[in-house]
Amino acid sequence: MGLNLAQKIIKEHLVSGEMVAGSEISIKIDQTLTQDSTGTMAYLQFEAIGIPRVKTKKSVAYIDHNTLQAGFENADDHKYIQTVTSKHGIYFSKPGNGICHQVQLERFGVPGMTLLGSDSHTPTGGGIGMLAIGAGGLDVAVAMGGGPYYLSMPKVCKVELKGKLNPWSTAKDIILEVLRVLTVKGGVGKVIEYAGEGIKSLTVPERATITNMGAELGATTSIFPSDEVTLEFLKAQGREQDWIELLPDADAEYDEHIVIDLATIEPMAAKPHSPDNVEKISTIGKIKVDQVAIGSCTNSSYMDMMKVAAILKGKTVNPNVSLVIAPGSKQVLTMLAQNGALADMVAAGARILESACGPCIGMGQAPCTDAVSLRTFNRNFEGRSGTTSAKVYLVSPEVAAASALTGVLTDPRELGEAPKIEMPKEFLVNDNLVIAPAPEGSDVEVVRGPNIKPFPLNKALTEKVTGKALIKVEDNITTDHIMPSNAKLLPFRSNVPYLAEFCLTPCDPEFPARAKANGGGFIIGGSNYGQGSSREHAALAPLQLGVKGVIAKSFARIHMANLINSGIIPMTFENEADYDAIDMNDELAIENAIEQVKKADTIVVKNLTKNTQFNVKVTLSDRQVQMILAGGLLNYTREQAEK
Ligand code: F3S
Repeated sequence: MGLNLAQKIIKEHLVSGEMVAGSEISIKIDQTLTQDSTGTMAYLQFEAIGIPRVKTKKSVAYIDHNTLQAGFENADDHKYIQTVTSKHGIYFSKPGNGICHQVQLERFGVPGMTLLGSDSHTPTGGGIGMLAIGAGGLDVAVAMGGGPYYLSMPKVCKVELKGKLNPWSTAKDIILEVLRVLTVKGGVGKVIEYAGEGIKSLTVPERATITNMGAELGATTSIFPSDEVTLEFLKAQGREQDWIELLPDADAEYDEHIVIDLATIEPMAAKPHSPDNVEKISTIGKIKVDQVAIGSCTNSSYMDMMKVAAILKGKTVNPNVSLVIAPGSKQVLTMLAQNGALADMVAAGARILESACGPCIGMGQAPCTDAVSLRTFNRNFEGRSGTTSAKVYLVSPEVAAASALTGVLTDPRELGEAPKIEMPKEFLVNDNLVIAPAPEGSDVEVVRGPNIKPFPLNKALTEKVTGKALIKVEDNITTDHIMPSNAKLLPFRSNVPYLAEFCLTPCDPEFPARAKANGGGFIIGGSNYGQGSSREHAALAPLQLGVKGVIAKSFARIHMANLINSGIIPMTFENEADYDAIDMNDELAIENAIEQVKKADTIVVKNLTKNTQFNVKVTLSDRQVQMILAGGLLNYTREQAEK
């Protein structure tokens, strides 16, 4: 049986597991990327692993999210990331160099390689034929340390593109159509693989617009083949040597198959407040527009910007519209400046923003109350723009620019002939905002501002685990109870010792002090302990306070995985009535802990205060057993790297 693209790359990188949809596999990671919002934690975790240099082929740290420097915090984070990356062999893309996914595509992406990024739109790299997956910071830290990335073997859905787009219909409209068909849940557990003669007419940046919004389908990732079009792009970036041809086998099999005729695609919009709430512009009608924002990792390429400039040239933005444009990278911005397109945008009345995420991440440009905002971005959830009452429509750059001129949602076909923009034969290459790491062995001082604190690291499991029942909580405790996240605490995400002072305080304000006074101990939980988000800090804060195990009636799945990552033993009562028999401050003990955990079945817990004992269950995979024995995923990764 022939292989499709996703299977080919996975096979090439497979470390463990069988390539059967739904079963756990692990793959080797070639490249990683981080952005500043998740990067600080990823590098603290990498430091905690204790490996001197990254083991990936290339790792890049971008500063593109929190580029506003209204206080010292963001600037401190940037300084920390710049110095820690230099020390450990990671490239550093300075603020102003551009949005991570755009720059990765231009300067670093390599067909056939795997890319793991601590940003959900990492699948953008699929536009150049990479298997590019978004993950948590901890996963990225482990990958940088040489550890494999674990995932469920995805199903592969073939999206066959037939025919050719009509003028004014765009790559954005293709992915909006796919979202309309598959919905925001349609990609879960799948790789979306594009094929068919229609892909030949799509440039790499257009393909990247499509793979970028595969994240909105919930897909593991999306991918295009690496073909002549890819070669042309890489040549124009001066990276011809990075190209390989990568096509699915002629007899490749797929789990699903969808056909889209490009000739039927019209300009579209995703209406408030979901990316799959898609309708043709022609049927939505001419609603009044207050703001137009062009940019983001979805639509900020050179080609996108040139089309916008051509539409705006010689015209004036409607007096009632605020138009902001953020070119995706320094490369794009410089080329626009050199060829005069930037002047056309400015002359028309556009406000040019830094090459960064900007309004997409709520860094400025919140629309006015009740505004209609047209954005070329990928998400339009309520409130994401910074204004809860705003209605955000996701559109192509062409629809955005046309509407900025008219002041109403406009089908660009009304403008007449579409601008013809050729893909440049040569992009302007100047990587002077990418700082190469210091040579191995150099003496680099990692600069830690007051907000950057070392990451808590557990110790290997001991023969005897003892401690008090530090707190006893009810059913349905959420990660918000365990580690509250509010506007006041958010800036401290790199400061676990400070955050730990708030751990479980909604349940018991004295808990952190009690845990510290006793040198740690156990948490006693009810059913569904740790439900809610995937917040890693809900495991890190208890670890900081010395928590060794959580005994609950049941666990929420992701929180349980996070506890294991931190080396905290998650145990469930064999008999739920034993929950009632424990009181706060009871002294508990697990003897022969190593032996008992290795069996990954039943553990006997002694209640020394009451002179009784009870059974708990530990449900762990072989790998999870090793993680608990090592004292968490970071220690485990270090052990593996030393072997
Ligand atoms: Fe940045 Fe928005 Fe993309 S925050 S990485 S431009 S989704």
